[in-house]
Amino acid sequence: MNVDLARLQPYPFEKLAKLRAGCTPPASLNAINLSIGEPQHPTPPLVVEALIQATPLGLRKYPTTQGVESLRVAIAQWLMQRFQLATVDPQKHVLPVNGTREALFAFAQCVVDREKTHPWVVMPNPFYQIYEGAAVLAGAQPFYLNCVAAHDFQPDFASVPTHVWQECQLLYICSPNNPSGTLLDLATLQYLIELADKYNFVIAADECYSELYFDETQPPIGLLQACEHLGRHDFKRCIVFHSLSKRSNAPGLRSGFVAGDAEILRQFLLYRTYHGCAMSPAVQAASEVAWQDEVHVRENRELYRAKFAAMLEILTPVLGVTQPPASFYLWAETPISDTDFAKQLYLEQNVSVLPGSYLSRFAKGVNPGEGRIRIALVETLEACVEAAQRIKTVVESLR
Ligand SMILES: Cc1ncc(COP(=O)(O)O)c(C=O)c1O
Repeated sequence: MNVDLARLQPYPFEKLAKLRAGCTPPASLNAINLSIGEPQHPTPPLVVEALIQATPLGLRKYPTTQGVESLRVAIAQWLMQRFQLATVDPQKHVLPVNGTREALFAFAQCVVDREKTHPWVVMPNPFYQIYEGAAVLAGAQPFYLNCVAAHDFQPDFASVPTHVWQECQLLYICSPNNPSGTLLDLATLQYLIELADKYNFVIAADECYSELYFDETQPPIGLLQACEHLGRHDFKRCIVFHSLSKRSNAPGLRSGFVAGDAEILRQFLLYRTYHGCAMSPAVQAASEVAWQDEVHVRENRELYRAKFAAMLEILTPVLGVTQPPASFYLWAETPISDTDFAKQLYLEQNVSVLPGSYLSRFAKGVNPGEGRIRIALVETLEACVEAAQRIKTVVESLR
């Protein structure tokens, strides 16, 4: 067996199942699951319809790994419009992927040179768990950057030792961030691009929450946009990851894309050709329609806005929690340990949330997720409000 398999951590939801083993919540209370970031809003009918329409013909075809041109054109146009980019070449700068999860994983397998000494993969901590698994299975070593409240939940990039930057091959960033919802600003993105040039590493920017923001006048900036500001039209060393899962409530579609540096994408396409991860033709057709429509995305933001407002009204007086600029998560402080709180909330109130410590690792002597829970505002407004009331009850019982 691949020896690196033994270095993989149990997934957070496996840890959660273990934490709750033997607990029986009251049968009188319906279950409310805010632990997993799985959007529950309806998938837009135009996406469903396109998928159905394209299925009979699509099933008779082997798709190419590069995907059809019309999909890549739709993606390139979306990128140019959304991030004010002068040119995105659908032939060179864009590749469809079956959700960002597989792409974030596969990317490290493609980019990391395991023959080099200390191939570091730098990532935020807490983090989307795939970054770590991808680094480990690529034969690299994860370097964790603690994201703590005192630093506005931002990675402290300046704290990374020079030798780590020198040996770094890949940097994962996540903006809007899961779990904190915070954003990396233009100056930080430009600083990271300078570092990437200086030390010759690749930046993988996970932007899968980029469309779930709250101020309609200020959509989050992206890495390719930072390139554009620098006049870096070739997007050198920069790759972004986007998804329809959160933007278009289609986690089951398994659809996203990667975009950026043409030379890196040329190699990634080669990798993917052998890996065998072409996107189904029907999924390509549905994705094309989804990237071309913004109406459902605006409606989606409205739904989240209402849920944040309602939950925060109930929770802010009792819990250390604030409105993030983006994402669909609350990253809330717990009055007792995060695992104990999550367990008690489940046992007494049948509400599921994720302990923050399950999303992060010990680094520099602390686990930066400790003492926090991640609440995913994915259920209906009514269910979210009900969950907030139940969370409040547990907090008050601890006083
Ligand atoms: C930060 C982050 N990146 C990537 C993903 C993967 O999304 P998908 O594979 O559905 O595109 C998720 C899913 O929860 C996520 O939270």
